[in-house]
Amino acid sequence: MSPHRIKKWEPDHFELELNTVWSFPERGNWATHDAKYRGNWSPYIPRNLILRYSHERDLILDQFAGGGTTLVEAKLLTRNIIGVDVNDSALIRCHEKCDFERINSGVVEIRKGDARHLDFIQNESVDFICTHPPYANIIEYSSDIENDLSRCNVSEFLAQMKHVATECYRVLKKGKFCAILMGDTRKNGHVITMSFDAMKLFEAAGFKTKEVIIKEQHNCKATGYWKTNGIKFNFLLLAHEYLFVFKKMAH
Ligand SMILES: C[S@@+](CC[C@H](N)C(=O)[O-])C[C@H]1O[C@@H](n2cnc3c(N)ncnc32)[C@H](O)[C@@H]1O
Repeated sequence: MSPHRIKKWEPDHFELELNTVWSFPERGNWATHDAKYRGNWSPYIPRNLILRYSHERDLILDQFAGGGTTLVEAKLLTRNIIGVDVNDSALIRCHEKCDFERINSGVVEIRKGDARHLDFIQNESVDFICTHPPYANIIEYSSDIENDLSRCNVSEFLAQMKHVATECYRVLKKGKFCAILMGDTRKNGHVITMSFDAMKLFEAAGFKTKEVIIKEQHNCKATGYWKTNGIKFNFLLLAHEYLFVFKKMAH
């Protein structure tokens, strides 16, 4: 994408979120952002997190980079970032989305890798982790990539997220923050609270939970199939995710 095709570099009238319920009905289409990568997050989420939990020229990590939303926001906000994904198609898109010139922008490094083993990142070298893993296999990003956690069922996924949490704790500097967006799912009419299970894994890895933010989802309207079944089987449609902010304490 060439820079001259970008019509708008920043959101209009942006204000930091001030409470624990976040909702972005217009997901944000500035710079190179679009909604085409399945399950990508609104750029308002990393923008809020990056501004609140990092400084200019800090090093940020998104080890589930997907379509590159966090990378674009870090670059625009003069932060350096390492973006990692197991999937080549995600990495191609990350390169495309970050291919713009902007004065005073951050440096983006894009790597193929596995969020459980970030051997190329030194201990305590990252200033902020801002990431969005798959929610087990709710969206399967591949059918054949061995290390793709979106191919795991819930219990396998949580077993692997334990390694992700340990790796987050290893690479993050003391006194810094790690933000993760997670969703739940349903089985046989009951909620599987995998978000909170994941939160507990991060606490077990050493983190202290600083914030639990509820993020409203706007792509799950109660219509058609879901409306009919929700009423017939008496369940509510899940319309929120959790954004956890963890702190690695200084001592
Ligand atoms: C929910 S998406 C991230 C979307 C991203 N926040 C965006 O806005 O585009 C999750 C990503 O995790 C990747 N992934 C799955 N397993 C992984 C692993 N073990 N290491 C790194 N990335 C992985 C998938 O390929 C997918 O692109």
